[in-house]
Order: sequence, then structure tokens, then C-alpha cells
Amino acid sequence: MNIKMFDFKVIGDSRGSLIAIEGEKTIPFDIKRVYYIFDTKSNVQRGKHAHRDLEQILICINGECKIRLDNGTKSKILTLNDLTKGLYIDSMIWRELISFSPDCVLMVLANKYYDELDYIRNYQEFLEAINSDNK
Ligand code: TYD
Repeated sequence: MNIKMFDFKVIGDSRGSLIAIEGEKTIPFDIKRVYYIFDTKSNVQRGKHAHRDLEQILICINGECKIRLDNGTKSKILTLNDLTKGLYIDSMIWRELISFSPDCVLMVLANKYYDELDYIRNYQEFLEAINSDNK
């Protein structure tokens, strides 16, 4: 599964800490879009889609959430609760965001502008797309 956890360098001094993220340097792509998810209501699940052609890095800036990742053959659940780490997710990986703490702020960096046509929002359709790519 093409996912990777990046460890960001913390620049700290007596005043506190800072993390800088530079496109194509700290992370493997140029950043076209940033969005963040916050104020998530209890028991809500988000995501539940894959992207045909989009790379993203997820950074949990505050609180905690869990993410279920699935490439059609393998699935894993990761906990995001550390603002010094960024989870890279490649295209064609199904993701479901679950178990948000009320204070969770999840920031997402993406290499493309928002495009609804890039989404696969149906899991069966995702599996079919994976299988047709592997033929
Ligand atoms: P949605 O895809 O349902 O969010 P999630 O995958 O986190 O569950 O998006 C919710 C709404 O926000 C939907 O109307 C599309 C819009 N949206 C944008 O306009 N720009 C964006 O970059 C994103 C991620 C969503």
C-alpha cells in the first residue's frame, strides 16, 4: 500500500516550537490545496472514498482521529494524534476517517485542486477500478 508516515523536523527554541512544510522538499509533491476538518460531531465518519489521481498528506494538528486505509487487498487502521507526523496517501487508496475526538483538527495537503470527478465514492466501483488497472 503506497502510504508513508513523514516525521517533520521540529524547530524549537526557548519560545516554543515550529514546523515548516515545503512542497517538493519536506513532502514529495507541490502543494496546490490545503483544507482542514474540525468541529466533527460525535460518531461521524468522513472520507469513505478514494481518489483516482490525487496525493495527500494528512496531519492531525490537534486531538485525535483514526483512519482506515484499504488498497483493495489489504486494509489497516492508523491513529493520527501527533502534529509532528504527516501521513502520505497515494491515489487509489480507499480511506475512512473514524473516531474523531471533539477537539480534532485534521489538516490535509493535496497536490491538486478540488475536483469532484476525481472521487470514487462507491466501494464496489473502487474495487472494480483497482481490478481493471491490474489487468
Ligand atoms: P467531502 O468530500 O464529503 O468531505 P470528506 O471526504 O472529508 O468526508 O466534502 C464535503 C464538502 O466540501 C463537499 O460539498 C465538497 C466540499 N469540498 C470542497 O469544496 N473543497 C475541498 O477541497 C474538499 C475536500 C471538499
